[in-house]
Amino acid sequence: MVAAQCYDTAMTDQEGASRSQRTPARRLTPYDVQVRKGTAEPLVLVTAYDFPTARLAEAAGVDAILVGDTLGHVVLGHLTTIPVTLEAMVHHLQAVRRGARRTLVIGDMPFLTFRTGIKDAVRHAGRLMQEGNAQAVKLEGGRPVAATIGALVEAGIPVMGHIGLTPQSYYQLGGNRIQGRTPTAARALLDDALALEEAGCFSIVLEGLPTEVAAAITERVGVPTIGIAAGPDCDGQVQVLHDLLGFTAGRRTKRHARRYVHLDALIEQALGAYAADVRSRKFPGVAESFPADEQTLAGLADWEAPGADTGEAAPPGSGT
Ligand code: KIV
Repeated sequence: MVAAQCYDTAMTDQEGASRSQRTPARRLTPYDVQVRKGTAEPLVLVTAYDFPTARLAEAAGVDAILVGDTLGHVVLGHLTTIPVTLEAMVHHLQAVRRGARRTLVIGDMPFLTFRTGIKDAVRHAGRLMQEGNAQAVKLEGGRPVAATIGALVEAGIPVMGHIGLTPQSYYQLGGNRIQGRTPTAARALLDDALALEEAGCFSIVLEGLPTEVAAAITERVGVPTIGIAAGPDCDGQVQVLHDLLGFTAGRRTKRHARRYVHLDALIEQALGAYAADVRSRKFPGVAESFPADEQTLAGLADWEAPGADTGEAAPPGSGT
């Protein structure tokens, strides 16, 4: 009998062990994040959009995963986050949750899904939690969305705020520009942050702010600030996974991001090697192929085309 042949490569014990060692014993809740305000160790957040990267982020021990609407440009190839739909967010949240069962997962509310009335916002956030399995939602905006945030919190939905450079306002802001660069703009952002805290946000993303403005907001609000392009003084940092990994399909890595590996180059190299191996018939080799057993081989050797020994004409279209 032929030994069982399996498509899967099993995870080695060593891989399994190192993964479980780094996996947190208990996943943080939004409440745990909130009470980390002002503690010495900054919170670590990263985006993820699919099963394998969520699994790796969890194995690396991040505090929380954001399924951001950066999905739009990072994974789906759009110019902005604006085309991202609620359905797409639910779909990707489900994949991330399958990969990261022990990590806090936050789902982003896409463009307009929380701006057409409080009832819509509650229903849409509810879908991210019930269908997407998010444990919290994030939404962009300052004082104009404070009442909506209050209603979500009232409905039992933990909310992460997001102010400063809010990419869903890409066209209104005239692109991805650093915000809060005048005294009036900086004070307005502080007022926004205080309004979001008052509305019940468990944390607030500060994106694209001068370091000192982000530091001043961090000092004055009572919930953790999570910075991206906002300097080192926030209570935590969030980064887009693909920027950290150099997996941007040639797009420029932004100044605020640090690239820890250059996956674009590694992937292109690997795929080039695969293509060369296929073209030169070096792939698949014996190790990647599945031999037939002797009985099957004997059956093949005995095989004759139907009618081959009778002298009958082959039926039309039989190819013989
Ligand atoms: O959508 C996203 O990924 C974000 C983070 C960059 C904060 O909003």
